[in-house]
Amino acid sequence: MPCQAPQKIIIGITGGIAAYKSLTLIRLFRKAGHEVKVVITKNGLQFVTPLSLEILSQNPIYSDCFTRNEPYCIEHISHSDWADALVVAPATANIIGKFANGIADDALSSLLLAAKKPVFIAPAMNVTMYENESVQRNIEQLKKQGCYFIEPQVGELACGISAKGRMEEPEKIFEVVTQFFAEKKKWFGKKAVVTAGPTYEPIDPVRFIGNHSSGLMGFSLAEKLSEKGAEVILITGPTALLNTHKNIQRIDVVTAKEMLVQTLLHAKNADIIIMAAAVADYTPKTVASEKIKKKNETWELPLIKTTDILYELGKRKTKNQCLVGFALETENEVENALQKLKQKKLDFIVLNSLKNSGSGFKYNTNQVTVFAQNGAVFVGKCKSKTEVAEDILEVILDSRF
Ligand code: CTP
Repeated sequence: MPCQAPQKIIIGITGGIAAYKSLTLIRLFRKAGHEVKVVITKNGLQFVTPLSLEILSQNPIYSDCFTRNEPYCIEHISHSDWADALVVAPATANIIGKFANGIADDALSSLLLAAKKPVFIAPAMNVTMYENESVQRNIEQLKKQGCYFIEPQVGELACGISAKGRMEEPEKIFEVVTQFFAEKKKWFGKKAVVTAGPTYEPIDPVRFIGNHSSGLMGFSLAEKLSEKGAEVILITGPTALLNTHKNIQRIDVVTAKEMLVQTLLHAKNADIIIMAAAVADYTPKTVASEKIKKKNETWELPLIKTTDILYELGKRKTKNQCLVGFALETENEVENALQKLKQKKLDFIVLNSLKNSGSGFKYNTNQVTVFAQNGAVFVGKCKSKTEVAEDILEVILDSRF
């Protein structure tokens, strides 16, 4: 799905043999009507010539911080202001390391630190370097900062062996970037509320009733939504998860009641609400102020029902709001899920069947079936929760926005 609106793209080139493929990448962007400027490192210039880059991009290249092309212009700032996106291809371990650690010692590294727009990074390096712990740590750091990595492929490397490290093909890089802008247009500015994790219902100052939810499914959905340009409020129960996209506003809650209050408050203005949290259905009738001492052989604890947040959201749903729920089932999965879809007035319900291996709380993978109110059904494969989040959003996007 190529993006129609012309974008201003900066292509950053560093010193790797894949630099020759950047010429094709420039050509692809130009051919599709986008504007391109090239920022290249000194080592990058060992592989491609300024003349080729300038002819293809139809713009002067920027490589040296200290030559003056335009009077009174600080080029790494003006380039950053100009661009809609930055694409570093090929990206060596060196530029990834510099960017991840805040080092700005040439034109490209300075530009990256000044960048306020989406940054795409297509690494290209030897497999041993790519797998090196420091490089992987730097990649993780940049992902946390919101950079988009276009994974290198397995193929013949400059050293002659076949392994992972080869820069992704220019056609694919072009597709990822243009697809990003096309999708962003649809999700951009949309207000989303996502709930995640378990709730803890206190019994006394030291005990609670909880469940095994890790929060990963909700966090993955929140991250994917914010990557696509939505404004996300993530309301989460207790979880060890930290790495959320910088555009996510996170609200921590503990009990079902706290989750109810926060969700109803923020759902008022939301375009899409996804209840991925495993909310407790029952909570202790009273919370003891002191630790309950052990007495008899058995202990009966009176519990009362919590409010079904999703049901309340369904009642309050406005015409343009999209409401998505989850159903965790161990038997009569489809029947139960469809009943929840109807009862809670949802647009979509995502069914997790605990019968599928690799699915549910304990796993980083999940296998879901999404039922839409209009009767459409999407059956997913068992994938990482990040990939499942992508699938779920695609289903919603296709039939709703
Ligand atoms: N949910 C909710 N508030 C609750 C309980 C559940 O909003 N108090 C939401 C969950 O976030 C999920 C959906 O309802 O999106 C379905 O949760 P699930 O536990 O599968 O079903 P319940 O409706 O609680 O019914 P049951 O436990 O009987 O299957």
